[in-house]
Amino acid sequence: MIDNQESHTAKFVTYLRAYYSQNIKEPIFNDHLAYEFLTPKEYEMFSHEAEKMNVDHDFNRLLNMTMTRYRYTEDELHKAIHQGLQQYVILGAGMDSFGFRNKEVLNELKVFEVDHPATQSFKLNRVKELKWHIPENLIHIPIDFMKTNVKDGMKQSFDSNAFSFFSWLGVTMYLTKEAVFETLQSISNLAPSGSIVIFDYFDYNDEKYVSKHGPTENTKNMLEYLEKIGEPVKMGFNLSTITEDLANVGFILKENQNFYDLHVKYIKNELIDKQTLQNYYIALAVVK
Ligand SMILES: C[S@@+](CC[C@H](N)C(=O)[O-])C[C@H]1O[C@@H](n2cnc3c(N)ncnc32)[C@H](O)[C@@H]1O
Repeated sequence: MIDNQESHTAKFVTYLRAYYSQNIKEPIFNDHLAYEFLTPKEYEMFSHEAEKMNVDHDFNRLLNMTMTRYRYTEDELHKAIHQGLQQYVILGAGMDSFGFRNKEVLNELKVFEVDHPATQSFKLNRVKELKWHIPENLIHIPIDFMKTNVKDGMKQSFDSNAFSFFSWLGVTMYLTKEAVFETLQSISNLAPSGSIVIFDYFDYNDEKYVSKHGPTENTKNMLEYLEKIGEPVKMGFNLSTITEDLANVGFILKENQNFYDLHVKYIKNELIDKQTLQNYYIALAVVK
């Protein structure tokens, strides 16, 4: 991220959710509040940016791919709520609107939004401008994952005996490997056994995707775009070691799905080339 500036990608994915909720007839995920987070000028700016990204013929793929990650995560979250979940932590929350879309769920569930201070203060200003009421159980904690570990940053307000669920969407790729594993280690130190984390990541072997030589044009375009806006991809997980790597920081890897698998599961009416989604994954791991 650019110093002292809110995340550009957080606003871009908000645009994707806003566009999706406004234009898609049978949505697999509906964030009807995303549109309100953006000013009309920002919405227009991002629609031009989407065109320029060189993914125009592929815009549906990008939309579907992003929506499947939210749908999968909130499906798993609702399963956990039925199993007595007490705390939901949204790491790198961006403009995530779960806490505003699910006010009745927040009567029983404490929700933490953890984000980089610059992005979080941008969001809270926007919430103020929109005159939205922040529910009592929606707690905002500014943390820079590169500087502060989650355990130190959250220990004041987090109940370490309470069954908890962490989502970490669209974030790992922008951090260093050290910061990602430090964050995972502090989650497993902080939360009780059985707690869940879901995060998405790029798979790379021999660092080929982080060095801009991904196998597809789409990947290359995406990496170039991210570098240009000041949020370059810095890390990925290695598929052949991820189970062991997570075990070393206190987790059992329970599910590890390629976005092609999610696409097949949720977007039933549209065929897609497996190649285009091959290096993007989502993992669900449980604290040992
Ligand atoms: C692509 S956005 C994803 C936002 C949200 N999870 C979503 O899916 O809409 C990336 C998020 O990672 C956060 N982020 C990036 N680097 C960070 C850091 N060093 N510490 C904390 N958060 C960071 C940004 O502030 C931003 O909210």
